[in-house]
Amino acid sequence: MTCMQVAASRGPYDIVIERDLLGRCGPMIAAVNSGRRAVLVEDEAVSATHAEVVAAHLQSQGWTLSRHPLRAEEHLKQMAAVEGIWAAAAAAGVDRGDLIIAVGGGIVGDVAGFAAATWLRGIDVVQVPTTLLSMVDASIGGKTGVNVPLADVGQLGKNMAGAFWSPNLVLVDADALGTLPVREVRSGLAECAKHAVIGDRALESLLLSEAEALAAGRLDGVDPVIEQAIAVKRAVVQQDERESGARMLLNLGHTFGHAIEPIESLDLTHGEAVSIGMVAASACAAGLNLITREREASIRTLLASLGLPVCLQHTVPVDHLLAAMRHDKKAVAGQLRLVLPSGDGAVVRDDVPMERVASAWHAVQPDAV
Ligand code: GLY
Repeated sequence: MTCMQVAASRGPYDIVIERDLLGRCGPMIAAVNSGRRAVLVEDEAVSATHAEVVAAHLQSQGWTLSRHPLRAEEHLKQMAAVEGIWAAAAAAGVDRGDLIIAVGGGIVGDVAGFAAATWLRGIDVVQVPTTLLSMVDASIGGKTGVNVPLADVGQLGKNMAGAFWSPNLVLVDADALGTLPVREVRSGLAECAKHAVIGDRALESLLLSEAEALAAGRLDGVDPVIEQAIAVKRAVVQQDERESGARMLLNLGHTFGHAIEPIESLDLTHGEAVSIGMVAASACAAGLNLITREREASIRTLLASLGLPVCLQHTVPVDHLLAAMRHDKKAVAGQLRLVLPSGDGAVVRDDVPMERVASAWHAVQPDAV
């Protein structure tokens, strides 16, 4: 068992990493919450499998559970989903000493976390991530939230409403990845690659050496990747919980990626959008001489070797993409805030001319490669 403790303003919490953990989670959860009553917010895709294992075990330990399945689709990650959890909590009589448990991927964790942050002005939450993306990124660090309709661009603004609400415990069991579609495994690998690029060349080497197996969904060797990727995330959120400095680096690829993720015709998962976003960010960085063209190419190679897309599937007008980026919640006084690879890591830049950003988008159009 690996256990990493994270310092956070709500109090320190453990990330426990071990195989075959879900059916043994009761004592660990009981150690952080004595209420014995919980809403189990579960991705309906894992209701019959991982959520059932967690529920059966907790019930055998005397917990009273209200099970609340969610369809984990980005367009449903809106306030109505949070209101549904509030209603389940009200019906179950969940009080301030009780708990919300999230079993699923990033969407379920973010929505359940926001419900926990807001129900009775905040109750405990345990994250049980069942996707690679959520294990290494979304379940750690306390970002919660929902998407918000933006009338002027006619699409959802990603995570525009939410709260920082750190979990009381994160349980990571790589056995849960056995039911994950390969495309979703690759999506999680994009976040692992992001953590490697912002600060862990050893993780980058490990990803490259394991790339063929990982991209094919063969996950026997995934545990050290998960541990190293989590270690990067832990270090960053401990340094800057509320994203006023170093945590912004975790948005590498995201300001670009968030502009393309909602475009239905591209049909991109979050990780795929981040992958293309990282390629665009690398092109932008190379244009600004923050990295060499060789480093730009090596980042593209890393992502491609993990089976991730490195360009758009069809042409998207650059004007549309620039307009979508201006809605990013990290824009400051109308100026884009971009995270760009730089040297051995990454930097935050508020001063990138729009022509450079436009050039970066041209670099990921299908006719550019
Ligand atoms: N996923 C980015 C962050 O947690 O800050």
